[in-house]
Amino acid sequence: MNIHYKVLAFLLIIYISFSVSADGISKTDQRLRKLAQQLNLTGTPKTDSPIPAIDSPLAQLGMKLFYSKALGGEKDTACVSCHHPLLGGGDNLSLPIGAHALKPDVLGLKRKLKKGFQLAVPRNAPSTFNSIFYKKSLFHDGRVQAMADQHFNNFEGINTPDVPSKTLDPLGGENLVQAQARFPIISEAEMRGNFMPDAGTQTVRRALANRLKKNWLPAFRKGFSEPGASADELITEQNISAAIGEYERSQVFINNPWRKYLAGDNNAISEQAKKGALFFFQKESEGGANCNRCHSGDFFTDELFHNTAMPQIGMGKGEGKTKTEDFGCGSVTNNKGDKYRFRTPTLLNVEVTGPWGHAGAYTTLEGITRHMLFPLESIRHYNKKQLKQKHIKLDDMQVNTLAAAKSGLELHTIKNASEKDIKNLLEFLKTLTDPCVKSKKCLSPWIPSKNDNDPDGLMLHARF
Ligand code: HEC
Ligand code: HEC
Repeated sequence: MNIHYKVLAFLLIIYISFSVSADGISKTDQRLRKLAQQLNLTGTPKTDSPIPAIDSPLAQLGMKLFYSKALGGEKDTACVSCHHPLLGGGDNLSLPIGAHALKPDVLGLKRKLKKGFQLAVPRNAPSTFNSIFYKKSLFHDGRVQAMADQHFNNFEGINTPDVPSKTLDPLGGENLVQAQARFPIISEAEMRGNFMPDAGTQTVRRALANRLKKNWLPAFRKGFSEPGASADELITEQNISAAIGEYERSQVFINNPWRKYLAGDNNAISEQAKKGALFFFQKESEGGANCNRCHSGDFFTDELFHNTAMPQIGMGKGEGKTKTEDFGCGSVTNNKGDKYRFRTPTLLNVEVTGPWGHAGAYTTLEGITRHMLFPLESIRHYNKKQLKQKHIKLDDMQVNTLAAAKSGLELHTIKNASEKDIKNLLEFLKTLTDPCVKSKKCLSPWIPSKNDNDPDGLMLHARF
């Protein structure tokens, strides 16, 4: 053997013995697997609620309703206008456009408002994917909230904005996702438009249900497997939200590489991603960023509310001195300490759910990740040019965002974060993507085809 090969072989043996332990697992794997074990991670978020199949009759009815502009007050908006599966279960916009779109069937960045209308939805549309796994609350501010953690065994009903805080909404329905589905249809900016402007919320819901009675009876009979029931019995606002909720709760996309890795496949994710995972989960004293402090467990959220001082772009909720602030859960609980707090979102499929943050201020995953690592620096150097929508109000952004930062910011600079750590972290976040959410074919069961029966010709077939 040539002397060079001997040296090479020797170096290789040294390299392998340093990076691989006796049982053939690399040092990174060893540390990561130990950590995952300590944190009880399995890759499968828990729910006691059965996951509906998308081809079940009720989820199929729910899908039709989710895509139907018949539920938009002025018949120009559907749930899917802001939550399309091909847009990560969102709309790809920082701030959504609901009612009064110039071309209602155009979604994504090409969606525009009619002349004379302004952006009126103050928050970013979260993904509907995996919403079945939220046990405590829905919405950025948690205003649809389980009275107890939503396990089937101790389900105690749901509090919603329709009733005083901490009290049960008798019409809240069976689960958080159903309870949530009753609200976009009564929101002027989202779906209602100028429909029955003076009517109470329940009157509007009933009127919309009545609207469906003309053409939707066969679809409801099929959906609820009640072939003999009448329109009055079946087409109720409660049944509408139940069906829509069933469809949304079937959107479970958790088959990601990280889960495969946790199941034992060392090759499921790259070495870079493994280092990123260590950085994500480890404490700062161990050289990590401890993202897991809030993004904990297999669903990557503690479901609690934190002040992370996200850049407050847009018109906010009309709060504070500037009248353009958004107090988040502070306005739901009326506790001073909750001001500027927003719910920790899941990070599953986060790669495809941008723009990120409660007002969609960051249009890159790297941007939001840097904010989580260097909050004050990110606010100071926030680049407005990243916004892809025109006409987003930015006059008060710095003032509002700094007000939040000064009011109990719960993030701090992670001093030991290097550029390499950030790259690794981004690689790790991408391992939380279920490949299905990037595949038109795989998502097709969640998107009605043009050949499907369309009860009143109001089905939204999206153009992007
Ligand atoms: C105009 C855009 C728009 C339309 C139309 C719309 N939504 Fe949303 N959706 C949003 C926004 C914005 C939020 C967050 C609002 C907040 O937190 O205050 C949201 C929140 C949600 C959430 C909560 C997700 C979470 O993680 O907490 C679900 C579920 C949801 N919408 C489902 C629906 C359903 C069902 C419909 C139809 C009945 C619908 N949406 C119609 C924009 C829209
Ligand atoms: C103190 C709790 C906390 C810590 C620590 C934390 N986050 Fe977050 N994270 C949040 C909250 C709360 C939000 C939503 C903020 C908002 O919308 O205003 C969020 C949002 C995000 C988002 C955007 C998700 C979306 O759908 O918009 C990403 C990505 C993210 N965090 C990644 C990380 C990473 C990576 C780390 C570690 C470097 C980290 N976070 C540390 C609480 C935290």
